[in-house]
Amino acid sequence: MTKKKLIAGNWKMNGSLAANEALVKALVAGVATPACDIAVCVPAPYLAQVQSLVTGSPIAVGAQDVSAQAQGAFTGEQSATMLKEFDVRYAIVGHSERRQYHGETDEIVSAKTAAALANGITPIVCVGETLAQREAGETEAVVKRQLAAVIHVNGHCISEIVVAYEPVWAIGTGKTATPEQAQAVHAVLRAQLHHAASEHAAGIRILYGGSMNAANAAELLAQADIDGGLIGGASLKAPDFLQIIAAAR
Ligand code: 13P
Repeated sequence: MTKKKLIAGNWKMNGSLAANEALVKALVAGVATPACDIAVCVPAPYLAQVQSLVTGSPIAVGAQDVSAQAQGAFTGEQSATMLKEFDVRYAIVGHSERRQYHGETDEIVSAKTAAALANGITPIVCVGETLAQREAGETEAVVKRQLAAVIHVNGHCISEIVVAYEPVWAIGTGKTATPEQAQAVHAVLRAQLHHAASEHAAGIRILYGGSMNAANAAELLAQADIDGGLIGGASLKAPDFLQIIAAAR
């Protein structure tokens, strides 16, 4: 089965009107005809700005979070229907920073996944172990538990999700998982998806995230079950992000 890789930038809480314009204009000028799908997941206040900058290019816009709720008294949250009005194609859910700093549980992540799917937004569901969990030999159990919760709530709809394996110890640390370490976990996730959605599992994209950069992207993306990348720091630098895009074929 042929599936395009997905290279998604997660800007996190970075950017300004001026910086975004410079970055996105450089990306649009540099992408030409990419072999992969491309997205930039931007802070909510900039969705409209970035959407207008990418119009007519192969770059899609994503959000970094989505509410599990449809509407109402949920101060500070954005619903999937609101994001949809800004042509948001993807929403990151369950990023480890949200699990860690905002108390997002597997149940909340599963409900957010459902809210995105119900509104035609592709959720990028993040899973990953901490360093302590890896050292305790719990990596497989942790990522399987995180993905199982999403499968339990979303059933056969999980064929529409993107999964991102982001080992917490590799995020923003410059310590990338080796291609072998990443592939081993991706294979575990693939097997779990296969169990849940047999005929669709091969088509579900599993991204790697965690200090992916222009220098290490090609080797990571060459692994059998690595179908793209979720990139933080290196997505803020146009030449680096463009190099990662070029490595995804
Ligand atoms: P870095 O690429 O900065 O390590 O961040 C990875 C990440 O968290 C993407 O969601």
